[in-house]
Formats: sequence, C-alpha cells, structure tokens
Amino acid sequence: MARVPVRGRGARLWDQAGREFVDFAGGIAVNSLGHCHPALVEALTEQAQQLWHVSNVMTNEPALRLASKLVAATFAEKVFFCNSGAEANEAALKLARKYAHDHFGPHKHHIVSTLNSFHGRTLFTVSTGGQPKYVEGFAPAPSGIEHIPYNDIAALEAAVNDNTCAIIVEPVQGEGGVLPAQREFLAAAREIADRHQALLIFDEVQTGMGRSGSLFAYMEYGVTPDILSSAKSLGGGFPIGAILSTAKVAASFGVGSHGTTYGGNPLACAVAERVLDVINTPSTLAGVKAKHQRLVAGLEALNARYQVFAEVRGLGLLLGAVMNERYQNQAKALMQAAEEELLIVLVAGMNVLRFAPSLVIDDADIDEGLARLDRALARFVAQQG
Ligand SMILES: Cc1ncc(COP(=O)(O)O)c(C=O)c1O
Repeated sequence: MARVPVRGRGARLWDQAGREFVDFAGGIAVNSLGHCHPALVEALTEQAQQLWHVSNVMTNEPALRLASKLVAATFAEKVFFCNSGAEANEAALKLARKYAHDHFGPHKHHIVSTLNSFHGRTLFTVSTGGQPKYVEGFAPAPSGIEHIPYNDIAALEAAVNDNTCAIIVEPVQGEGGVLPAQREFLAAAREIADRHQALLIFDEVQTGMGRSGSLFAYMEYGVTPDILSSAKSLGGGFPIGAILSTAKVAASFGVGSHGTTYGGNPLACAVAERVLDVINTPSTLAGVKAKHQRLVAGLEALNARYQVFAEVRGLGLLLGAVMNERYQNQAKALMQAAEEELLIVLVAGMNVLRFAPSLVIDDADIDEGLARLDRALARFVAQQG
C-alpha cells in the first residue's frame, strides 16, 4: 500500500492507515530537528500572528535577525534569502559571474564543477550539476561550464584558468552517493581559485546547518569558501534558501540585479532563526557526532552479519552505506525492504543507501531504526537469494 504520511513527531511518522514509521530520511536532509519540534511550532505560530509577508521591497525583523545570526556564526558578512536549494545555487552562480564581470570583464565567466554533483533543478543548476541525465531534453543549456572528477586535484588544476569565475563544490556529494571530499581537494580548490582570482562556492544545501557535526561542513574541513549556499535543514521543513558571502562579493548584487518576491519571508525566517538557535549550540553539535558514532557502529554490526555493504561513509548524520560487489545496483530494493519493516531511508544513486535523520533523534529511535533495518536486511538477503 502506498504510504501517505499524515502526522509526524520527532523521528516518527504515521500514515493514513495509522502505521508508525521510524524516519531515517528526514524529508531528504530537511527535518533537521525532526517533525513538529515544539520550538519550531512555537516560532511559526507566534510569527503567524504577527506578519506573514511583505515582499522584497522591504525587509522584516525575522529576516534581519536570522541574517545577523548567520553572519555572527560564519565567515559571511552578507546574506541573501530565497526559497530553495536550487534558487540558492542559481543566485550563487549568478553572483560569481556578476562579480567577475564587474571586476574583470565579461570574458571571465567560466565555471568549474564536479562530475556527479547535484546543485538543483533550474536550467543553470542542472547544467552546473554533473549528472547529464538531468539536462537531457532541455537543451540548449547555459554554456561555459566544465566538469572534472570529484577529488581530482590534477584535473582541477588543469581546468581552472584566468577566465574561470567560480569553482563550485559540495563538501560531501549528497545525491551523488554521500561521497565526502578529501580535505586536500578542498584546500587545493581554495588555493587554485585564489591564484586565478576565481570565487570558491560551497554548496552546503545538504551538508549545512549542523548535519556534518559542525554548523557548516566548511568548518569541519577548515577551508572557507567565498560564497556558501544553504537550504534544506536551514528551515527544518519550512521552505527557505540562502547564500552567504563576503561583503566585497555581495556588493555585485546591487538593487535590481537579482531578487525574489518570497525570499526572506517572515514565516520562513522566524522558523529558520529558531532552527539556528537550537542547532548552533555545543550540545546539539556534539550530539550529532555522538549519534554518528552510534548509527555507524550499528550499521557496521549489521553488515558484519549480512555482508551487504562495501563501506559506510559520510559526515555527521549524512551517511551512506555503499552496496558491495554482490549487491550492485540493489540499493532501491533494500530501501523498499526497509519500508516494509516501517523504516524510511533514502538512496543516493543505485548503489548507496542514504541516511539523513533528525539531528536530535533519540538514541532509542536510532536503535529501533537499526532493529527494523536488521529485519529488512534479512528480508532483502533472502529475496536476493
Ligand atoms: C547539494 C544540493 N544542492 C542543491 C539541491 C537542490 O535543493 P532544492 O531541491 O531545495 O532545490 C540539493 C537537493 O537535493 C542538494 O542536495
């Protein structure tokens, strides 16, 4: 029976038939504080009594507070709000081109991205993403974009030149298989970008807002971008996106050069401000690292019994279990077996089972999810024969 969730609380979801699921997917790394977290319900309902929308012809208090807190917590000096991850990356890429245009001229518009990356579904972001299947049928695509293998420093060095305006990288490729960057690769990207006066963009739509165990994954790696895109966990389930940047770079977005009617919507910003307040504390971030250990240990213990995964990888609570040689391309079948055991997980491609649960999931819910995955693995291994 198709599941239609009707209610959620913490790391649990209930469908129309009253079945109770353990949620290890978190709405694809969005429900950073689980479902209906009381602090977020409070922020949303308080704001709902005050002001819903004013458009981008004026600002509002929740947007100003959220921007100030993001600036205080990161490298950034300026924040631009929008409504999704694709919009955030669209803005980041446009800003990089505009900055290069303003400072060097229109010839400096070349963008370097990585194969297998995912940056969203607008035409510019699918073209920048490294998965050709998402561009098929939509030609002509924007030009001037080149893709290199992820974690390949020599290829990056060869691709970037003085006409490059930006290098865009996910610190962990999420949709592409929960594949973490090597620190040396990100450090090289920083150095190569600087040498060619190009900007470094980190797409932290999936890795950001505590998911890595630090507020943003760039902090975990110790490599700072010029522009960072955020969405997903930022709103904890309420749609919002943002780009963070230095003041010098942001100056290229003058009034009228980019905008969105809903960006910085008071309801979205009030919720995101509360998300940030809860996540950006030593206890929540330490909790992500502790829960990472618990979930990884549990997955490895299951794998010792079932021998299905080649490795478990990822940062914080963005984890991927890679199918081994014997079970190539079967991640989806395992996801379906998990659903039959009332556990919601994700896939990332054909070969990776992906986990992106609430950052404040209880240990008991982790253990219950692992118990259900145990039954799912037994079912899956029996089916595969
Ligand atoms: C790294 C990354 N960038 C961008 C996006 C696009 O975000 P949205 O679906 O909110 O447009 C995603 C979504 O999966 C993502 O994982």
